[in-house]
Amino acid sequence: MTTRPPREATGSQRPLKGSIRVPSDKSLSHRVALFSALAQGRSRVRGLLDSLDVRSTLGAIEALGAQLDIKVEADGLCGTITGWGDAGPHGPKNALQCGNSGTTSRLLLGVLSGLDVTASLEGDESLSRRPMDRVIAPLTKMGARFYPSEAFSQEGAPAHTPEGAPASTLPLTVKGTSSLEAIAYQSPVASAQVKSAVLLAGLNARGTTSVTEPYKSRDHTELLLPAYGASLTVEGLTTSITGGQRLFATDCEVPADPSSAAFLLVAAALIPQSEVTVRDVLLNPTRVGFLTVLRRMGADIAIKINKNAHLGTEQVGEVTLRYREELEATTVEPYEVPALIDEVSILALAATVAKGTTIFKQVGELRVKESDRLNAIVCGLTALGCDVREEDDDLRVSCAPPHIRATRLATHGDHRLAMTWSIAARAFALALDIYGLESIEVSYPGFFDDLKRLS
Ligand code: S3P
Repeated sequence: MTTRPPREATGSQRPLKGSIRVPSDKSLSHRVALFSALAQGRSRVRGLLDSLDVRSTLGAIEALGAQLDIKVEADGLCGTITGWGDAGPHGPKNALQCGNSGTTSRLLLGVLSGLDVTASLEGDESLSRRPMDRVIAPLTKMGARFYPSEAFSQEGAPAHTPEGAPASTLPLTVKGTSSLEAIAYQSPVASAQVKSAVLLAGLNARGTTSVTEPYKSRDHTELLLPAYGASLTVEGLTTSITGGQRLFATDCEVPADPSSAAFLLVAAALIPQSEVTVRDVLLNPTRVGFLTVLRRMGADIAIKINKNAHLGTEQVGEVTLRYREELEATTVEPYEVPALIDEVSILALAATVAKGTTIFKQVGELRVKESDRLNAIVCGLTALGCDVREEDDDLRVSCAPPHIRATRLATHGDHRLAMTWSIAARAFALALDIYGLESIEVSYPGFFDDLKRLS
């Protein structure tokens, strides 16, 4: 990992030009690692994202008994993962360290729920504040048990009765069981982490587990599990999986992350005369809502699908964005939000130069990301002199390009905010004092090098 973030991000308005392969997709890297750990046999993996979040998942599966033979190569982490398969995982000696990663913790809770194993999970300060009850509620209904870690004795038995207050945040201890019961779960949130946790538990439950979500969230779990030999059905907003299925090792190559690409593409939309191409990028429709929204705002975007490169049934291709003068405001409807949930901060920055008021409807989920990202976007853009408001769960951004020459901005340890403020500095030639740039390491090591490469 190479990012050495400059403490002060000094902007310049020189155009961004060139073609680049951003680091591999984070969501897919977590899933490839976890599914390979569950599988029988040795999976060959290429291009796993080498970032702190993915390293948390790799550390956890290794502690549970998966065998990793992985090297750092130019396009990410490459090598083999031998799963625990039918033998099942070890009970880990120490708590599994999830770092800053919501996906690591929530997907692991789903996996561990259906296995005869007891394990504790810990996270950093930000992750320890994030809600785990959204996965604990359905997994408890299926038969798994969750305890605040301090309430769990070293001997492996709950230090209080199982009826005691269940855990709702990390650190916590999960006691899984191979006799889970299937459920039909109506999720109150459109969250791929919740959906994936329940489906992964369902893999080992008696009967058919289904998850219905209010809007479609990213569908990588559904698309990737079949590559490991599992079958699922998807009907509208309901995904179902029948328990008792085994996973088998497979070979996977992970394409580039559209969420990382979004920062460079929006930078090109903001800086006159720019033209940026991102190559080998994942084009799953449940991930690239930001491209639809940017196009609606008038951005000049060309997409080429590469028919030969794909992971399972995921689409991969190339996206070029050419600067165009006038962007127009738009309204992002609630059903569109899950497909751009990680891109709202950078889209909000684009909205500051678009004619009119852009409204992101029902983006309350941003309050429980790596920071209260909704509030942080409002505070950050306001500090930059933009006209931005939070109304109930809607975010409203009016056209008013940043005009403050220098200011201090907080990232709240949130990688996506750190990159958004860095792009603001670069695009509007602002000398910004940005605190917490090192958080970028969780998803996009090399971010500043890539920006420089395009400069
Ligand atoms: C992710 C799902 C999303 C997203 C996160 C990664 C995943 O979270 O914000 O960065 O890989 O499943 P939610 O499921 O909480 O929406």
